[in-house]
Amino acid sequence: MAPHATHFYRHRPFSLMAMALLVGTLAMAGMLCPSTTPPPDDGGDNGGTPPTGDSGLTGKYVGAARCSQCHSGVHTDWLGTLHSKALETLEEIGQGTNSACLGCHTVGFGDTGGFVDRATTNSLAGVQCENCHGAGGDHASNVNDEALRPKLNISADVCGKCHTGEHHPNFEDWQTSKHAAVNAELVPRFANGTSLNSCGKCHSGDYYYRAIIKGETVPDNALAGLTGDQMAGITCVICHNPHARTGNVPTADDGRDYQLRHPLVKYTTPTTDLTMAQDPSRFNLCGQCHHTRDRVWTDSSREPHPSDQVNVFFGEMPLPASNLEPIVPSRPSVHLNTAEQCSTCHVYRRPFVEGIAPAVSGHSFEVHMGGCVPCHGSEENAQAKLTGITVEFDFRSHLVEVALDAWAARPAQVTWCTGLNPAPTGPCWEFTSEGGPANNAGGQGKIPDGIKKARYILYYFKDGGGGGVHNPDYMREALILAEQYANEAPDVQ
Ligand code: HEC
Ligand code: HEC
Ligand code: HEC
Ligand code: HEC
Ligand code: HEC
Ligand code: HEC
Ligand code: HEC
Ligand code: HEC
Ligand code: HEC
Repeated sequence: MAPHATHFYRHRPFSLMAMALLVGTLAMAGMLCPSTTPPPDDGGDNGGTPPTGDSGLTGKYVGAARCSQCHSGVHTDWLGTLHSKALETLEEIGQGTNSACLGCHTVGFGDTGGFVDRATTNSLAGVQCENCHGAGGDHASNVNDEALRPKLNISADVCGKCHTGEHHPNFEDWQTSKHAAVNAELVPRFANGTSLNSCGKCHSGDYYYRAIIKGETVPDNALAGLTGDQMAGITCVICHNPHARTGNVPTADDGRDYQLRHPLVKYTTPTTDLTMAQDPSRFNLCGQCHHTRDRVWTDSSREPHPSDQVNVFFGEMPLPASNLEPIVPSRPSVHLNTAEQCSTCHVYRRPFVEGIAPAVSGHSFEVHMGGCVPCHGSEENAQAKLTGITVEFDFRSHLVEVALDAWAARPAQVTWCTGLNPAPTGPCWEFTSEGGPANNAGGQGKIPDGIKKARYILYYFKDGGGGGVHNPDYMREALILAEQYANEAPDVQ
């Protein structure tokens, strides 16, 4: 996927093997005596072994080996990540002593007590614990002093120090996304100590981290008194495990892993069961939050929540337990074969090209037509298809609204609706929350099933469809059925 990265990683096994052979040959010939022979020169491309030592450590930074004495599990995991090899990566391309690079590929470079070179501060090579947790010498020597323990910090700033700039603008791109901040409507609720348990698992990084990742019981008022800026959105470590390879990306570039927290679920049998439709274990990373909530077509007070993308993708719609007759037949998407599902279109990545183009990190999560090329031939073709389907589906959803309006304009509905108190502020077929009739027996209670089905489908499409692209055939059939339901709906009695 990222040609220049692949190039470097493909390189690695060969250069290591060559080095091992070379060292072996020299040793056999009796030419390699550690005490007298200077180590091979490390200036070249294929990396000799530079001299190593720790005489330069001051005790401020101590290095991961020291942390492993007490945090051995985390240390073992971390050893498997590319972070631990970040200095080797530079050395393989002959940049192991370039001061322009070391700041993000070692611990504390440029800071007192930080990395200087392999000869004097070898224990601080690579991206380590202390890059993310801060200098740990004081803590390691006084483990019982709680004040000196590193504070856990799930902010994107931790990663943004390095994952930034034109080569890898993950941080800047993420900042432009809606994931970067808690929704403005929810900030005051969380600040007032409410709604965290019902909305936080998708809308609050703080809650997600503690309740979902750590499994803690989190009180509703855990964010009380905080400002929006002090609340974590969907930050890097909500999606990425900071410590470990997880094996969750099927098509990563050579040697890479991305450390994603959730596996790709290739296929899940579509369900109409409301509990299962909200069960995150059925879905991929994005589907942990982009799944439907507790609403079905018989509900009157509110339209479906705008988060049902993964259900649409798998072609499913939850039904009320009281009426399990499907209102749209389940049908998985033609896009089910996208190699990385949502990420194929929403986390498209392209490497930096010197002097021509900055890198695309995909972390704005906006759709990029580059992701469509493997199947649709070119960005232009894909854009044309997208435009085509947008026009078609806008028209189809318009037909549903026309049918709903026509029902509301019939004499029986006009009489009923104008007599309502309180008077609806929106169309008489709408949900209460959208200005429709009040949610009582004489209001919503009078609306026939066909209208309820049609309006539910209309919102399901608007919210979850990605303009219909998430599951074109399913959404097409859904909108055709919605129009029929509305056209065939009887008058209020
Ligand atoms: C001699 C043992 C020891 C060493 C060495 C040590 N730690 Fe700790 N660390 C602890 C103990 C004990 C705690 C508190 C109990 C706990 O949370 O695990 C702790 C807590 C932490 C926490 C907070 C965990 C939490 O859940 O709040 C972090 C982060 C941490 N250590 C990182 C490090 C890093 C980084 C290093 C190396 C620079 C390091 N530790 C070295 C023993 C040690
Ligand atoms: C000190 C700089 C630095 C910090 C801080 C940092 N990274 Fe990295 N990260 C790197 C470098 C450098 C690499 C590339 C290592 C290599 O390929 O040798 C990397 C690689 C990665 C990769 C790719 C791993 C793979 O197998 O494909 C992920 C994912 C990642 N970092 C996530 C994070 C997250 C999440 C955080 C914050 C919790 C973070 N990083 C903090 C410098 C940093
Ligand atoms: C601002 C911090 C930063 C600086 C400075 C920096 N790097 Fe990196 N480097 C990173 C991060 C972060 C990654 C991981 C990129 C990713 O996986 O998205 C990385 C990855 C790499 C990789 C792995 C291949 C790739 O592109 O993913 C190479 C090679 C590399 N850097 C070389 C260099 C060189 C050479 C320099 C100095 C000229 C340098 N870096 C300076 C942060 C930095
Ligand atoms: C790329 C950044 C990064 C690196 C490298 C890193 N950590 Fe962490 N660590 C975090 C973040 C962020 C958290 C809090 C989120 C979490 O637990 O996933 C955390 C959590 C922890 C915790 C407490 C919770 C837990 O998961 O056990 C400990 C202890 C810890 N780290 C120790 C270490 C040690 C020791 C190392 C080095 C061997 C290390 N970390 C390397 C970012 C990092
Ligand atoms: C299952 C996960 C989930 C839960 C639980 C959840 N939301 Fe959402 N919500 C989302 C997602 C995902 C989006 C973004 C959808 C989009 O923009 O397409 C969203 C969007 C929103 C929006 C912005 C769009 C709009 O309609 O204006 C608001 C406001 C909102 N949610 C409020 C809430 C409130 C209030 C709660 C709790 C009562 C809640 N959400 C619970 C996942 C969830
Ligand atoms: C909503 C989930 C999500 C969030 C939040 C997120 N990422 Fe990612 N990230 C992904 C996915 C998915 C991929 C893999 C894309 C693919 O399959 O090609 C990825 C890939 C990466 C990679 C490896 C590919 C590359 O770009 O070189 C790095 C590094 C990375 N993310 C860093 C970050 C950092 C830093 C942040 C925070 C500023 C962050 N991510 C926030 C989902 C997320
Ligand atoms: C931990 C929950 C969570 C995860 C995981 C998550 N998202 Fe989101 N996402 C949200 C929430 C909440 C919003 C809406 C925030 C708002 O409107 O304020 C959102 C918004 C979005 C938006 C913007 C929608 C709009 O209306 O502009 C896109 C696109 C998106 N997410 C895609 C993804 C993709 C792709 C993934 C997986 C790589 C993913 N999300 C993973 C919670 C999540
Ligand atoms: C085949 C490509 C493709 C795949 C796969 C895909 N999307 Fe989309 N998505 C789109 C397009 C196209 C749009 C409309 C973008 C626009 O109008 O700018 C969109 C829109 C969205 C939106 C914005 C809200 C909306 O309804 O318009 C969210 C959120 C979203 N997708 C999440 C997801 C999630 C979660 C997945 C995985 C279950 C996913 N997408 C899979 C192409 C895709
Ligand atoms: C894994 C392959 C794959 C990827 C990637 C992919 N598509 Fe498709 N797409 C298909 C297939 C197969 C069909 C069904 C045959 C057709 O209509 O071309 C399709 C159909 C469509 C349709 C037409 C549906 C209809 O019935 O009219 C649109 C629109 C579309 N794709 C847009 C996109 C966009 C936009 C992207 C990228 C953001 C994308 N696709 C990425 C395979 C893919």
